[in-house]
Amino acid sequence: MLRITVLVSGGGTNLQAVIDGIESGFIQDAEIGLVISSNPKAYSLERAKKHNIKYMVIGKTNYPDAEARTNALINALDEAKTDLIILAGYMSILDSKMIEAYRGRIINIHPSLIPQFCGQGFYGKHVHEAVLASGVSETGATVHYVDEGIDTGPIILQEKVPVLEGDTADTLAARVLKTEHKILREALKIVIASINKKGDR
Ligand code: GAR
Repeated sequence: MLRITVLVSGGGTNLQAVIDGIESGFIQDAEIGLVISSNPKAYSLERAKKHNIKYMVIGKTNYPDAEARTNALINALDEAKTDLIILAGYMSILDSKMIEAYRGRIINIHPSLIPQFCGQGFYGKHVHEAVLASGVSETGATVHYVDEGIDTGPIILQEKVPVLEGDTADTLAARVLKTEHKILREALKIVIASINKKGDR
């Protein structure tokens, strides 16, 4: 059984999509062993509780020092015997020490068609505001491996979403989220199959 740790900061609808994907049997040979939130008030923690998933908070509130925070994260991931890390609405940048420790084992969901509307400052609602301000007629969602850059790692899956007349950042975000949930589950199947094939767990 492949052990997943999900890193979150907010509402956790993507976390829920993974939980549901596993509970429904769509995603097999995997379990969520741990949820780590950077934000002590994240609703994601309620979702973990409800599904009896172990959870903890590692963020600026309890680890103000960046190095101590990274070390705490790595320790928690190691202790949970993590095979794969999902950044699901995780609003912190990972230190290179952590990326090195889990190279090729970290994936991220981003609410745009990378390489558009990504990188420094493009997260959450800011992405959708920028999309609307630019006047493009389509946006989308991307699941990719995480490397040292911001939203730069190899893309696993991507899907387009139309921008509709009268869209606000909220209506657009809601439409993109549905696609995020779908491609995150599909990407997970691909990544799990690839890890199992390599047999390097
Ligand atoms: C999602 O749209 C996710 O793609 C985005 O934050 C939202 C979290 O929603 N992540 C980023 O912007 C990271 N750069 P959720 O907490 O309901 O999953």
